[in-house]
Amino acid sequence: MACLNDHRVTFRGKEYVPLMVGGMGTNISSAEMVLAVEKLGGIAHLSDAMLMDVADRVCGTKYIPTKTMQYAKMRGSADKKDMHFDLAQLEEATKKYIGGVMEKATGKGLVFLNVMEKLTMNDPMGSLKVRLNAAMDAGIQGITLSAGLHLASFKLMSENPRFREVLLGFVVSSVRALNLILKRTASLERLPDYIVVEGPKAGGHLGFGEDWAEHNLEDIVREVKAFLKEKALDIPVFAAGGVFTGGDATRMIEEVGADGVQVATRFVITQECGMPAAGKYAYLNAVEEDIEVNHLSPTGYLMRMLKNTPAKKMVVPPNCEPYGFLLNQGMCPYLKQWNQKLAGATAEEMGPAMCCLCTHMKLYNVWTCGATTYRLKETTVKLPNGTWYLPTCEQVYRDYLYSTGDDIMVAQPEA
Ligand SMILES: Cc1cc2nc3c(=O)[nH]c(=O)nc-3n(C[C@H](O)[C@H](O)[C@H](O)COP(=O)(O)O)c2cc1C
Repeated sequence: MACLNDHRVTFRGKEYVPLMVGGMGTNISSAEMVLAVEKLGGIAHLSDAMLMDVADRVCGTKYIPTKTMQYAKMRGSADKKDMHFDLAQLEEATKKYIGGVMEKATGKGLVFLNVMEKLTMNDPMGSLKVRLNAAMDAGIQGITLSAGLHLASFKLMSENPRFREVLLGFVVSSVRALNLILKRTASLERLPDYIVVEGPKAGGHLGFGEDWAEHNLEDIVREVKAFLKEKALDIPVFAAGGVFTGGDATRMIEEVGADGVQVATRFVITQECGMPAAGKYAYLNAVEEDIEVNHLSPTGYLMRMLKNTPAKKMVVPPNCEPYGFLLNQGMCPYLKQWNQKLAGATAEEMGPAMCCLCTHMKLYNVWTCGATTYRLKETTVKLPNGTWYLPTCEQVYRDYLYSTGDDIMVAQPEA
């Protein structure tokens, strides 16, 4: 019977199993997780979300405390226009963190970086340019552009000596978005090396509006493939969102026509994943009714998460002095909502409650997850002490590669 390992995708003349582990900010797709997959010859994404904070934690730097002190006086101010990230420090942090990971990579697989346009950092283009170029300078092998159309991103990288060497891809949820992107990239004579089509069952932010449930991944993949064929473009398409088993992945390739898949939810409960144990067990204990799509994220995108996500209960003031990764022209929608609340606005006037995403992502208080999270319990066993066995990345990766039909190789503690 067919399995995912029967298939290959070719990048720069080398063949890989067509499975990518998607980026999960903030530091959920940790270096340990990415390196564990890369060692197996796989492709996995780091995330550059709140990277200066991640660098402080991983590399022992002090970027965030320095910024906090610098802007301490602005704590109560309603508008944060005068607050800026030090771009030289952003560059240094990116190079330090990514360079450190690349030094440990074996060369068997590929280490990619997920870069979200919505992380506007009070200087959307300036900060994005630094993040993209510093990652290339640090030796990253691929960059996946997500959470936004990224119409300017190719241009921002085009002067970099590695612009035509680093694998570059976009996450899209519609042909319309892809069409806009390709029109832009054409002027630089640089096509994307891959496209990730993310459907409505994905974790993290969704690229759909309130009608998300009316869309389905298979249809969008077929539309994207037909569109690329019509344009005579040979760009591999990776289907993402709800690909839970090796069999799902194989079907996506053999029956729907994708060239590969991108997955994330199965890896959130792995030992190497950055999510703390409490979150991993919450995912494992969840039933289908525990998962919702809501407006908690101030990015303007809908986000899927567990209903008992700690961030929903813990209201914190905007924390822009240390973080401020979502500021744009001095404002973030959560900061705006907070200001409205201080001014006495009613709940109706303020709209659906948001959270300080920076604070809560840093604290792993947003248990964002894919729609299939409630099935994670099918993939592992309960231990005698009542908790769950957390699989290794290798166990999950091999299950995707070799399982057939609807089978799952249930992860067992190693003897
Ligand atoms: C915990 C979690 C965090 C995520 N964070 C991000 C992110 O920071 N940026 C992004 O582009 N996608 C993010 N995603 C989406 C994944 O990269 C991936 O495309 C998608 O979840 C795949 O679907 P699956 O989770 O059903 O396998 C996240 C997904 C999960 C489960």
